[in-house]
Formats: sequence, C-alpha cells, structure tokens
Amino acid sequence: MSQRRILVTAALPYANGHIHLGHLVEYIQTDIWVRFQKLRGQRCIYLCADDTHGTAIMIRARQEGRSEEALIADMRAAHIRDFNGFEIEFDHYGSTHSSTTRELCGQVWSGLLDQDMVVEANVAQLYDPVEKTFLADRFVKGGCPKCGAENQYGDSCDKCFSTYSAMEVRNPKSTLSGATPEMRDAVHKLIRIEKQRVFLEHWTQSGKHLEEEVANYLKGQFLGEPLRDWDVSRPARYFGFEIPGFPNNFWYVWFDAPIGYMGSLGDWCLNTGEKFEDWWARGKPGQDISGNHEIHHFIGKDIMYFHTLFWPGVLKAAGFQLPTRVHIHGFLTVDGEKMSKTKGTFVRAATYLNQLNPSYLRYYYASKLSNGIDDLDLNRDEFVMKVNSDLIGKIVNLASRTARFVETTGLTAKYPDDAGLFQEFSAAGDDIAAAYEHCDYNRAMRTIMALADKANQYVAGAAPWELKKDASRAGQMQQVCTVALNLFRQLVVYLSPVLPSLKKQTEDLLNKPIQHWDETKQPLEGTKVSRFTHMMKRVEPAQMEAMIQDSKQEYQSMSESAPQSAIGNRQSAIATDGPEALAAEPLLAEQISIDDFAKVDLRVARIIEAEYLPDAKKLLKLKVSMGGDVARQVFAGIKSAYEPDQLVGRLVIIVANLAPRQMKFGLSEGMVCAAGAGGTEIYLLSPDSGARPGQRVH
Ligand code: 2FM
Ligand code: ZN
Repeated sequence: MSQRRILVTAALPYANGHIHLGHLVEYIQTDIWVRFQKLRGQRCIYLCADDTHGTAIMIRARQEGRSEEALIADMRAAHIRDFNGFEIEFDHYGSTHSSTTRELCGQVWSGLLDQDMVVEANVAQLYDPVEKTFLADRFVKGGCPKCGAENQYGDSCDKCFSTYSAMEVRNPKSTLSGATPEMRDAVHKLIRIEKQRVFLEHWTQSGKHLEEEVANYLKGQFLGEPLRDWDVSRPARYFGFEIPGFPNNFWYVWFDAPIGYMGSLGDWCLNTGEKFEDWWARGKPGQDISGNHEIHHFIGKDIMYFHTLFWPGVLKAAGFQLPTRVHIHGFLTVDGEKMSKTKGTFVRAATYLNQLNPSYLRYYYASKLSNGIDDLDLNRDEFVMKVNSDLIGKIVNLASRTARFVETTGLTAKYPDDAGLFQEFSAAGDDIAAAYEHCDYNRAMRTIMALADKANQYVAGAAPWELKKDASRAGQMQQVCTVALNLFRQLVVYLSPVLPSLKKQTEDLLNKPIQHWDETKQPLEGTKVSRFTHMMKRVEPAQMEAMIQDSKQEYQSMSESAPQSAIGNRQSAIATDGPEALAAEPLLAEQISIDDFAKVDLRVARIIEAEYLPDAKKLLKLKVSMGGDVARQVFAGIKSAYEPDQLVGRLVIIVANLAPRQMKFGLSEGMVCAAGAGGTEIYLLSPDSGARPGQRVH
C-alpha cells in the first residue's frame, strides 16, 4: 500500500487556562493515533496551537497589568511544558496570534466575500457594564434556551449540545463580573452558513467523515431547520485580528481558531521547507477540493457544531480542502461525576505529574477510549487496578522476570520452538492495527492484554527461575527467556503508540530500535540483552489521594486570590483559570474576638470616579458611593495593578470606620480591601452580584 500523507489536529486549547486531565483525553487520544500512523510507516504530522484571541485574554491581561502578548507567551510555555510531561509530541505547536494565521484569515475571508457568504447586520449584544466590554458568548452563563438546563455557557449547552447566542440564554449573568449584562447594538458581519446547506447535508450524511451517531445527531438536531447566520465579528475592544475594510472590528475568536490549524501548518512548512498545498490543498472559492492526502480533526463533543457544520461550510466556500474525518470524543468524569474544583477532581496536568507517572494515564485513557462520544470515567480504584495488574503485572513483569537471566548470554542465536506463540502474536497485529485505526483503543488494549496473559502463562509454565538453579538446563533457560523477551517486545511494539517511554526502555534493554509495526513479524535472534533496570513502579492509592488533595489546595488558594469569578467546568475550555496558585500565606495577626471584628465597619461601595494623581507613584484617587447620596474620597495604593477606567462602576469592599487620614493629596476617608503581595499582584475584593453599595459586610 502506498504511503498515506495525514495531517492531524487536536482542538486548540485556550491560552487563558492551564491544561487539565479533561483536555488530556483528547491530546493523548490524538497523540496515540499519530504515533500509531507513524509506526505503520505513514507520513503523519500532529499540529496544534494555542487559541489566543478573545475577551478572556484581554480581560485577564488587564487584570494582571500586562500585555496580551506577554500573557499568551507565558501560557504557551506552560502548555508546552505540560504536553511534554505527558509525552504528547506535536510536529508543530503554534499560536493563532501569528502572522501566518492572520494572512490565512484574510484569504479565507476574501473567499467568503467572493461567494457572497457574508452579510452585515445590526446586532444587539450583551455588554458587561462593570467590565465595560461586550461579552463573548462564553462569558455569559444562564439557562439553556433549548432544553432549560441551568448554568450553561452562552454559546452552547453541555446537556443537549445545542449552540445558540448568549442573547437567548435565560437569566444571563456575566462570568467576568457577575453583573447582569445590558443589551447594546453594533454592526456585525455574519456568515450565511445556510447557503452551504446542500453541500453540508451531503458532507455530514455521506458516512465518510463522521461516525453514524454524530451524523444522525446533526440531522435530527440542526439540519431540520435553517442554519442560522454565524456572527463572526466583534467591535473593539477585542483582542484579535482587525477585519480588513472594517476598522475597529475584529474576527471573533471562533472564526480564527480553526484557521489556526492551517496557521500551524503554514508555520511548520516555514520551518521544514514543506509545501502547504501538499498537506492542505486549495483551489478557487466555491470549488470542491479533495486532495489525495488526509486531514483529521480530533475534538470534544462540545465543539461538534463548529467543526461539522461551520468549518466545512467555510472551507468549502473559501475553496480549501475539506476534513477527511472529524473524530469526536466525550467528556471526562471522575468517579462518575463532573470534575469538581472543590472536590479536587479538576486536576491540572502539572499537579498530576507531581505525583504520578504519565504512562499510567496514557494507558488508562487508552483502555477506556472507543470511537463513540460517550463520556469517559476516570475511576480511581479502576485506575490503580489497571495500572498495577495490566501494565506492571502483565507487561513489565514479563521482562523483569526473564531479562536478568540472559544478561550475560543474550538471546539464542536461533529463535526456539514456542508452540506457535510468536506466530499467533504476530498474526494479531492486523486486528490490533484496525482497532487503533478506528480509534477503538479499548479493543486494542483488550486484545494486547489477552496476548500478555498467554505470554505470562508460558513463562509461569516454563519457570526460568527454576531452570536457573540447575546449570545443566542453562540452554533451556536461555530459550525460555528468548521466547519471553520476544513476546514482550511484540507486546511493546503494539503498546508503543500508548507508551513511548516503555518503547524506549525496551529499545535499550534489547539493543534494538523499534521503528515499524511489522517488526513484530520477525523475532530477535542472538541479540545482546542489557542489564535490566527498573521500568515502571506500581501505583499506590495514596499517590492518587495526594494528587486530589494537592488539587483541592491549589483551587482553594486560587479562589482566595483570583480576581475573576465563575470558573467554568468545560472540558476543552475553561473560561478562566486565574493566576498561578500561591502557597498559602501564613497567619500572622494575633487572634481577636468576634467583638473585636465587629468594630471594623466593612461596607460595600461602588467606585464612581477614579483618577491618576500627577505625583503619586502608587496611589489612585477614588470616589466611592456608599449608598444613597453618600460618597467618599479614598486614596488607594493600587496604581500598579489597575487603570482608572477599569475601576469605574465596580463594587468593592471599604473599611468605612477607619479614622480619616490627611494625605499629601487630600483627605482619605476609608480604605479599599484587596489581596495580594503588591505590584501587579493586587486583587480588589468584590462582593457577589446582587450586593448594593452601603450594605454591611458581616
Ligand atoms: O473549545 C476550545 O477549547 C477551543 N479553544 C477550541 C478551538 S478548536 C479549533 F477550532 F481551533
Ligand atoms: Zn440544552
């Protein structure tokens, strides 16, 4: 069969949050698929990038007092560290904030204009009066307009998977400030997806690009009614690319995100000298382009609509090659429940890596993943059981129980008679490969472990440790170990897309690189065997528990210090994750009685004016409303972390009975409460929405 050329992407993680175990389902699933293809001798590249644009980054950068570029650079470095930690190997990891992506956005846009796919409309959008910004749909939460589920994001529902506009959400709240958003009008550009209906009906229902379950779902849920125009522009202030010919308006983050796949390809081509069109064919707008190579997207079910309707519609109109297949997985639950920050089950990649070996999770996910969209449960007991009984008990033990006996002799010069075992293992390769190819890793792992059982039965029956005791049976012992280590190597080849470290250790042990799947067909003969070194430890339940406790603590300290509210539990998209967790500050002040505390009159106040003072290094001058027509002047040392126009309108907490203090700039009549170490790390305290100026804090 001729070599396939396969471009693979995983969804681009947002640059405003850390990678967590939910994300890793997809990145690991995709990494396994790519490693499998490479091992089969295909030309395959794995591309990804940070999804950097939108309101979230803008707001967070503002809160952290630095540029969006500085923020996304840091987050990109953190993402890459996490991916490396889990042995997720991208051929290129880019950023949507790149000149290549900008240029491609322009090209796609002119294709859309050419095909008359863009219309202009006056759009009323939700506006956060506290944060003074239009709200991306993701920054609104409320009831799903379709199924009524509570606490859903403003762009899609994780119960019924509908997408909608935030304007339709019931009882909406801004996740940035908790305020009830206002409606404001602006001119927007919209893409007329309905114009691609005939094509999309064909593309989604052809049986070639999607699992049947997904195709049926799209048909029943979305294709039965006109596809709504897709609003792809946002007025300033917005962090993104300005739309050519539409000053002060920017492409919506979801417009440039999938184009980021192409941007990552473009940047990889610049690095390697490859040609873009060899991987992603393009022609004239409207032309149906099918290259003779493949494009595979791996995504979560929450972003199915974007990838199976909008994206093919846009690609078709703009004249770019369409995806060969969109592979869709379900969400991660932990112990049968949604991941929870307070329970410590919303675990960041880095937190996991502090306690546990990445191979455990790679294997565990592989053993649970199929090609369906059902959720995948990380059950802690099952995790321990699978790692210890499968990975250690069935695989690693095969080598540890036999390799040391042939350290000095190496393998026999000729592979001995094994009653057909090697042959049987080699024949199973096609079936295992088919399971990998169809993303049915669970089936692949079951088949491999069934083979491992047979190998272990063989070793148990032949008992090389007994043969070792009798010098006259040294030859027999060498034969048994030769068989066992060859079977072990076959299993490792089959597992190597999942367990790259074990592959490396096996290469070192048997002094032979593993470069192709078909190496399972030829036994190693006369090979040197290196001194056996420890491969993988058993996992202890206490390590899992420690990870959960670490995770719990991180979120506790974060919620104490984070200025943002409402951190979502979305799988591939956390709305915002707050800054790095800080070590808890030690308690320093002496104990006080409740009566002592009651002496401090803390009040909710609204900042109604804020200004710089010409000579002040640290202070801003604030005027706060204490309710009714009572206002006060306060000088607050927050200049290093806030700009005056970010402050006007927001609620804060004031120490209202602090003796007035005459300062160089005037009288200060209270103190604004804030957390943090100073400098850019100052976080004003604010009450939940609903609180009113003048209310006492108890
Ligand atoms: O849902 C998310 O996390 C998005 N950042 C995924 C973007 S995928 C693609 F379209 F770029
Ligand atoms: Zn719903």
